Amino acid sequence: MAETSIYTLAVHAGERLLKTDPREGEPYTPVVTPIHHSVGFTYADTEDLDAVFAGESETPVYARYGNPTVYALEAAVAALEGAEAALAYGSGMAAIHGALLAAGVKTGTSVAAAHDVYGATYAVLDRLLRGNGVDVRFVDVTDLASVRAALAETQPVALVVETISNPLLKVADLPRLAEAAHAHGTALIVDNTFATPALCRPLALGADFSVHSATKYLGGHGDALGGVVATSSIRRWQLNEFNKLLGANLGPQEAWLIHRGIKTLPLRFQRQCANAAQLAAWLATQPAVARVNYPGLPGHPQHDLAAGLLGGRYGAMVSFELRDAGRAEVFRFMDALRLIQPATTLGDVYTLVLYPAMSSHRALSPAMRRRIGIGDGLVRLSAGIEDATDLIADLEQALAAI
Ligand SMILES: Cc1ncc(COP(=O)(O)O)c(C=O)c1O
Repeated sequence: MAETSIYTLAVHAGERLLKTDPREGEPYTPVVTPIHHSVGFTYADTEDLDAVFAGESETPVYARYGNPTVYALEAAVAALEGAEAALAYGSGMAAIHGALLAAGVKTGTSVAAAHDVYGATYAVLDRLLRGNGVDVRFVDVTDLASVRAALAETQPVALVVETISNPLLKVADLPRLAEAAHAHGTALIVDNTFATPALCRPLALGADFSVHSATKYLGGHGDALGGVVATSSIRRWQLNEFNKLLGANLGPQEAWLIHRGIKTLPLRFQRQCANAAQLAAWLATQPAVARVNYPGLPGHPQHDLAAGLLGGRYGAMVSFELRDAGRAEVFRFMDALRLIQPATTLGDVYTLVLYPAMSSHRALSPAMRRRIGIGDGLVRLSAGIEDATDLIADLEQALAAI
C-alpha cells in the first residue's frame, strides 16, 4: 500500500487514541481529543498506578509525567516526522535543551553547532553550556571539510544544525552531516522548524533528533508557545526521564491548539512556500534591495542541494538586505508596513517581518553577526497565507518610504 500522504496524516494522526470513555460503558470516542485539564489521573486498581510509576505502563499519572492531550500531539508529530515517537515541551528552546541533554551533553563533553543557528540556540551553547564546562565549537555547516575537521578534533557528543538556517536560509546537507557525525559517535540534532515535515523528515536522512519550535509552522496561528522533539522510542524515554525531573512540559491547552494547527500545516505551508517564492523573486528585482536570501532562487549557494533535499519547495522564509541601510532605514521600512506585521515570531498565517540584529540575533555581538553574514540592513520575512499581490503592494510602498 502506498505511503499515507502528509495531507491525510496531518488531519488524522494522533486523534482517537483514547478508546475508553471516562463514563464507563459509553460506546463512543470523541473525534477530536479533548483538553485534559487534570494534573492527576486515578486508577481503579492501585497495582495499575504502581505499574505506571515503575515505568511498565505509559499511561498518565501526573501532568509532569505526561497528559493525554499532549500524547495526542506527540503522536501526530511523530507520524508527520516518520519517527517512532516524540516528546512535547513548553517551548522550542526547552525542546532543544532536552535534545542536548539526551545526546549526553554535560560538563567535560564537546558540542559542535552551526555558527548561524537561531540566536537563543547560539546563546544556550555559547553562554549556558560553555559556562558549565562544555567545549562548544561553532562551524560553517555548509563547509563539510571544516565540519569533519571539527568532529575529528573534538569528538563531540552532538552536532546541532538547522535544516534551513535562521535568518540566512542556508541549507544543511543532512545525509552527509549525519554520516560525518556518526563516524565519530556524534548524535545529529536537527532543528527542522523552518523546513517542517512537509518539506523534510530529518530522521529518514540520518538525524537522531528532529526538533521543532512548535510555536511556528506546526501551530501556525501565533497563539501557542511550544516545542517538540521527534526521535526513536528509546531516546523519547530518555527525554521523558529528564522531563519528569525538570518539568519543561507543554500544557494541555497549548498542545490542543498546536494539534489543531497541524491539521492544516500541509495546506498552509503549500501556500506560504508559493508566496515566499513570489516575494523573493519580486524583491530580487528591486533597486532598494541589495541581496535576497531564498533557497528557491537559482543564485542561492545551496539551491541544487535544496532542490533535492526539500522536494522542489524551498520554505516560506525569505531574508533580504536593504541597500546601504542600517538600523534607521530598516526601522523606517518596518514602520511603513501596513499589512505585514513587524512581530518577533514566524510561521504564522500572517506575513511577518523581523530585524534579526534587534531581536532573534540580539544575543550575538555586532562583530559576530557581521562575521556570519547578518548585516545591519538584513530583514527577515515569514510569508503568510494572504494574497501575494497585496503583500507585494505593501512591500513596495514601504521600500519607497525608506
Ligand atoms: C529556528 C528556531 N528554533 C528554535 C526557536 C525557539 O523556539 P521557541 O521560541 O518556541 O522557544 C526559534 C524561535 O524563533 C527558531 O526560530
